[in-house]
Amino acid sequence: MIAPDEASEPQLSLLTLNALHQVSYREAGLILLPEKVRMVQSRLRFRLRETGLDTFEAYLALVGSDAGAKERRMMISALTTNVSHFFREPHHFDILTDEVLPRAQSRLKSGGRFRIWSAGCSNGQEAFSILMHLLDKDPGLQDKDFRILATDIDPKVIAFARSATYPDRMIDNIPEDLRKRFMQPSRLNEQPAHQMTDKLRNLVRFKELNLMSPWPMRQAFDAVFCRNVVIYFDAPTQNALWPRFHDALLPDGMLFLGHSERVTNPEQLGFSVTGPTTYTKIRARKINTSNLQAAQGIAHGTS
Ligand SMILES: C[S@@+](CC[C@H](N)C(=O)[O-])C[C@H]1O[C@@H](n2cnc3c(N)ncnc32)[C@H](O)[C@@H]1O
Repeated sequence: MIAPDEASEPQLSLLTLNALHQVSYREAGLILLPEKVRMVQSRLRFRLRETGLDTFEAYLALVGSDAGAKERRMMISALTTNVSHFFREPHHFDILTDEVLPRAQSRLKSGGRFRIWSAGCSNGQEAFSILMHLLDKDPGLQDKDFRILATDIDPKVIAFARSATYPDRMIDNIPEDLRKRFMQPSRLNEQPAHQMTDKLRNLVRFKELNLMSPWPMRQAFDAVFCRNVVIYFDAPTQNALWPRFHDALLPDGMLFLGHSERVTNPEQLGFSVTGPTTYTKIRARKINTSNLQAAQGIAHGTS
């Protein structure tokens, strides 16, 4: 039953939802299940208003067309869930200090690099948490060849992360001593806020990147954080990502996933399971990515 004030709003049918799902799946691996119809409807009504379209069928025609590339990005942005917070899943930060940092420190001593990737970084809380944590443990990193790459498909969160300014209600989880050392008071939309210091901002690069596209990075990483991202993907999409993360890591590099995410067949892929959501690259993988993708019939776009 549709409420009276709902009746005048555009309605999303299951048929059109399914067609939008084909677009979002091909574009970004995002699944739009029938039970999410009301959520999708409410998130996309704003896009209908912005594009001046009256029906979801007209919107589908736009995002399904060659001319709709820009709006497809906006649609994906509207459909992604960007919830994040500072120092989420804190056990990973201990592993970072105990396992990743010592290896990186000895490589830095011999003139090497230390690189971390926050893949699906949302508003930047994950990348800045990693930075604050590591600089707290080893302030000397500041002057070494140490950088974090933080990427997300959603241009809005990347713009927010680059501003590095967080309303005070978002920074409760940051211990006070870290807040004092790495943040300065600021304002955001006339509300009290804090901004990360330049010292921190200079160590992180925020970039728009769709995980379904080819990855342009040439250097391998000491650690990849891809937490609470693949939960929105189906099994074939997840399985196509694991070997790519393996390839993106240095030997002994570590992959951190969110609490409800797991690599399938980690040993076959050349990972050892170091914790429930922590994987260490132990050797070359046995499965070839292209064979795997072909076997699974992965047909994501590469734009
Ligand atoms: C729930 S947030 C997780 C943020 C952070 N990693 C954390 O654990 O707090 C998921 C992020 O994944 C991003 N995302 C979803 N699909 C993506 C894709 N195909 N490529 C890159 N990022 C994607 C979303 O835009 C969103 O910002």
